[in-house]
Amino acid sequence: MKHGNNYMDTFEEYRLYIESLYRSKTVLQRDNFISQTGWKEFIPLVDDDAARFLQLILQLKRPLKILEIGTSLGFSTTSMALAAQQYGGSIITIEFDADVAEQAQKNFRQTGVDDTIQLLRSDALQIVPNFPDAYFDMIFQDVDKRLYPVLLDDCVRILKSGGVLVGDDALFPVMALDEKWKDQIAPMREFNELVAASPQLDSMLLPVGDGMMVAVKR
Ligand SMILES: C[S@@+](CC[C@H](N)C(=O)[O-])C[C@H]1O[C@@H](n2cnc3c(N)ncnc32)[C@H](O)[C@@H]1O
Repeated sequence: MKHGNNYMDTFEEYRLYIESLYRSKTVLQRDNFISQTGWKEFIPLVDDDAARFLQLILQLKRPLKILEIGTSLGFSTTSMALAAQQYGGSIITIEFDADVAEQAQKNFRQTGVDDTIQLLRSDALQIVPNFPDAYFDMIFQDVDKRLYPVLLDDCVRILKSGGVLVGDDALFPVMALDEKWKDQIAPMREFNELVAASPQLDSMLLPVGDGMMVAVKR
């Protein structure tokens, strides 16, 4: 296939075209979600296309028990909950920052998805190792990237066979990132390599949002 522009320009054109297709139909948009909270600090949340992709996975797979690691203001949680509440799925989400967690809980109430979500205000490093084996149908990993490789074995252990593991920001190793995110690159690369090579997982890294590693447990 020939490209008139360099690849990154072409990729940006793809992204804008895809975004334009869905913008009017997207019920929950990230920028609106953030402005409704009135939160002024920069909080990294998944992109709109990543949120739609998560919803699509839920519609396809209908996972009943979902774990999200890294809630922040609850944009991805709310996006998933809007899909999960249509078929009776539920989400446990973990956030250790008390102020952020309080705002997320308010957002869940305002959006009418609080019945679908249980928010654990705690350190994922303490919580995740204590879930039982084969407990979740889906795990969305979106915490500090330095924890991704640390928690991977537990994520695979607590996932059911046939369950889906999604890791956000999987393209960090090849993105032009601000200096403050540089310490997130090596662990993200390690996570990608571990998932790709895992005999327990079949996976694909997709260029959705900042990259989504999608894996199914054998
Ligand atoms: C990238 S944000 C999550 C964004 C969210 N999933 C979304 O798209 O709406 C990562 C969050 O993980 C939280 N976090 C970082 N380390 C954590 C830990 N050890 N335990 C629990 N939460 C943690 C941060 O406070 C931050 O709010």
